[in-house]
Amino acid sequence: MAEVNAGILGTGHSYPSGILTNADLEKMVETSDEWITSRTGIKQRRKAAPEEYTSLFAVKAARQAIERARIDPTEIDLLVCATVTPDQLLPSTGCLIQAEIGATRAAAFDVAAACSGFLYGLTLVNSMIRTGQCRYALVIGAEVLTKYVDYTDRSTCVIFGDGAGAAILGPVEEGRGILSSRIRSDGRFAEQLYAPGGGTRLGSTPETLANGLHFYKMKGNELFKVAVRSMAEISREVLSEAGQSADSIDLFIPHQANQRITDAVASKLGVDESKIYSNISMHGNTSSASIPIALDECVESGRVKEGDLVVLASFGGGVTWGGVVLRW
Ligand code: UT7
Repeated sequence: MAEVNAGILGTGHSYPSGILTNADLEKMVETSDEWITSRTGIKQRRKAAPEEYTSLFAVKAARQAIERARIDPTEIDLLVCATVTPDQLLPSTGCLIQAEIGATRAAAFDVAAACSGFLYGLTLVNSMIRTGQCRYALVIGAEVLTKYVDYTDRSTCVIFGDGAGAAILGPVEEGRGILSSRIRSDGRFAEQLYAPGGGTRLGSTPETLANGLHFYKMKGNELFKVAVRSMAEISREVLSEAGQSADSIDLFIPHQANQRITDAVASKLGVDESKIYSNISMHGNTSSASIPIALDECVESGRVKEGDLVVLASFGGGVTWGGVVLRW
């Protein structure tokens, strides 16, 4: 069977109404608006209420993407939910979303690749659509990270926020959609960003809970360097595979981890500031949700136009990283 290109047909995003500002954090932990702004670019982040959970936001984002793609949920063959903060351990958050949106024909599952999860999902469905194994796929990045954040640990609690973004992918004409895509990981760096408790190794016991072992631990400074190097390298690789150069980028959407990481990647690649999208000041770092939320904001504001060359790049816990080049 002849291969077809896979492209994004509709996008959506959603986040909690609760806002946690730098001023709020100043009252919770020894930090300052000045430190957070200058070291990360973040001014506020969204925070789910105790009764809110990941799939609530994922479902809203998914419904919007489906509506904009003008398809019926029953036409979706594959539903990939990228998350490291699932609603529950069993079943997958993907299956819970599937039931809510009525994607009755889909195979649904989760991908745990931290901040690179959305690009892992795009890469996977790209090959399935290209080879005709599926026609329409829904890829979601959704997180409620603030429930895994230790609000006494200033090195992590200022960064993370909650939200979800979604995209419907399907066949598009030649030369459009995903032109190249690559994903990678290196588990030797697992302990740079991890939550030791809550799994089968150190389950949820009164002791692990009392010691906060289910909270995220991060070696931010070490991750920073690997993030800049990996995102710049993989962006170059996918650009070259697509037969493009950094000069031809119309829109560069990196994972929103830290404004200084974004600036360093852009300068390594030689991408002009005007081509880079950043929303980190408003959302903080939402892990797998950051790229699809940013993408949908670009669609809604008209920042991305038909024919634009769009580059997505991610880096996250695992460590994992990825790059995707799209002709919009
Ligand atoms: O999403 C993908 C995975 N995550 C990342 O890619 C995150 C990458 N890393 C980062 O974004 C940054 O490393 C952080 C924002 C987490 C930290 O920024 P940094 O510039 O790397 O700070 P640092 O860890 O080197 O700490 C510098 C100083 C330390 O004080 P001393 O030892 O110099 O006295 C920290 O204790 O800043 C202190 N510090 C803070 N001070 C005020 C650390 N966090 C805070 C804080 N407020 N929130």
